[in-house]
Amino acid sequence: MLYKLFKYYLNKVDPEIAHKIAIKFIKSPLASIGVSSNKKYKNLNQTILNMKFENPVGLAAGFDKNAEIYNNIHKLGFGFSEVGTITPEPQDGNLKPRVFRLYEDKAIINRLGFPNHGMKSIRKRIQNKKPNGICGINIGPNKKNATIIDDYLLCFNNFFDLAAYITINISSPNTPNLREQHEESKIIKLIDSVKKIREEKNSKVPIFFKISPDISDVEINNLSAIFLEKNIDGLILTNTTIKNKSKLLSKYKEESGGLSGLPLNDYSNMAIKKFYKKLGDKIPIIGAGGINNGKSAFDKIKSGASLLQLYTSLVYEGPYVANKINKELSNIIEKNGYRNISEIIGLDCK
Ligand SMILES: Cc1cc2nc3c(=O)[nH]c(=O)nc-3n(C[C@H](O)[C@H](O)[C@H](O)COP(=O)(O)O)c2cc1C
Repeated sequence: MLYKLFKYYLNKVDPEIAHKIAIKFIKSPLASIGVSSNKKYKNLNQTILNMKFENPVGLAAGFDKNAEIYNNIHKLGFGFSEVGTITPEPQDGNLKPRVFRLYEDKAIINRLGFPNHGMKSIRKRIQNKKPNGICGINIGPNKKNATIIDDYLLCFNNFFDLAAYITINISSPNTPNLREQHEESKIIKLIDSVKKIREEKNSKVPIFFKISPDISDVEINNLSAIFLEKNIDGLILTNTTIKNKSKLLSKYKEESGGLSGLPLNDYSNMAIKKFYKKLGDKIPIIGAGGINNGKSAFDKIKSGASLLQLYTSLVYEGPYVANKINKELSNIIEKNGYRNISEIIGLDCK
């Protein structure tokens, strides 16, 4: 009831203002009122890359850009969080309006362009409030440096000791030319340079790459071979898409930017399956794109994801969506005769 009223109000205001209010709400003690049970489900426990995940549902990058709520989201049922995307220098992002809710499609189009407070002030914030759960840090370049790798290295240097894992975001469609980093020669240079710093620092922090759903099969094959050869720790599949917009119903469907939510669901599952067929269980995949209930979570894991992330369904289903997904997913796993989530990873590809 509380959330229904809240949602009614939030839907009336500009999406970015609604987001600010949502951050304040999640920070406040009010947020736990609506959580009737934050039950732990044994069949959702997994250890991946030496991290113990109580459940697979993580908060996707972009929601907590400035590291304000990473410790508050566990009470909402999330198993882990990812802050960012963070750039070396603070930046304002693109001109407003730049976030559009496509209600009829249960989708969002955004062209934010990495607005964030910059790595130095965000580092201080995380240092002052150590993560009380698994918290990944997602890094990217400032707009002016999108075609070179220097900013990734600055951010990696800045955060490697504070993060449970580092995500290298090469897939936002809203920073011009960023997606060029998918090119073979560029990604090889990026991987080698980041791994070199990790070695010099004697760090074991896992390195994830966040990938676009808009790449071709040839690119998927080539990238898979590179990730296997270079021993990359994990992938996040996928970021938002700039395709798949023609069948949308909303008047905002022509807006430029990345599309997330329901229309991304099958599309990201396709990319996950293609990568999983190449990588098997050698490189874990965090699946993202349109997850909004237990069934869509189950399907993503069967496509090859070991873990999940969501953003858009927080907007449409409300702050308790992770809690709901865990409950439903645990039931589905049990009803289908499996003992643990790990038994269903990639089943659709076998
Ligand atoms: C408003 C908005 C902002 C986002 N910002 C980022 C970002 O800064 N970095 C990033 O890697 N992904 C960002 N994403 C992409 C999400 O992390 C996620 O990959 C994508 O939205 C698919 O998941 P969903 O369908 O559950 O939203 C953003 C998504 C939205 C909707």
